[in-house]
Amino acid sequence: MSRLVRAVAFACLAASSLAAAPAFAAEAASSAAAPAPAATPALIERGRAAFTHRCSMCHREGGTGTFILARRLGAEQSLIEKRTNLAPEYIRYVVRWGLVNMPRISRVELPDPDLEAVVAYLSAPRAGP
Ligand code: HEC
Repeated sequence: MSRLVRAVAFACLAASSLAAAPAFAAEAASSAAAPAPAATPALIERGRAAFTHRCSMCHREGGTGTFILARRLGAEQSLIEKRTNLAPEYIRYVVRWGLVNMPRISRVELPDPDLEAVVAYLSAPRAGP
């Protein structure tokens, strides 16, 4: 099944389940708020390394991500390593599905454990390059 068909099918399924079962909505809402994984120094360091490898060419000074986020959200929101307002679930979603000008990043390019490390790194207090 193509990704689009699957996404549409999921959206329909989710919509019908939401109408039928409010409990599902509550569950979906709580999983959307899934916290960052327990951030040990080792996990954060692994996340920093994965970020350098997979994200930094677009998300540090001079990158397209930084440029576009500066235009869309303003300079102080443009470097995602300096932000403290990115929800773990939002980071996971954007990485796996892409966002307008950002291409999706597959599990082959960035396996789930590395994505979780990146999430921990970006969610760590005062994350910085
Ligand atoms: C090829 C360039 C590129 C790579 C690689 C890339 N990004 Fe992005 N990213 C972008 C662009 C461009 C945007 C802005 C999208 C837009 O608003 O159109 C963006 C936006 C985002 C946002 C949304 C920020 C917001 O406030 O909405 C997050 C989160 C994000 N990227 C995380 C990551 C992470 C984590 C990685 C590495 C695993 C990564 N990106 C790799 C280009 C990239």
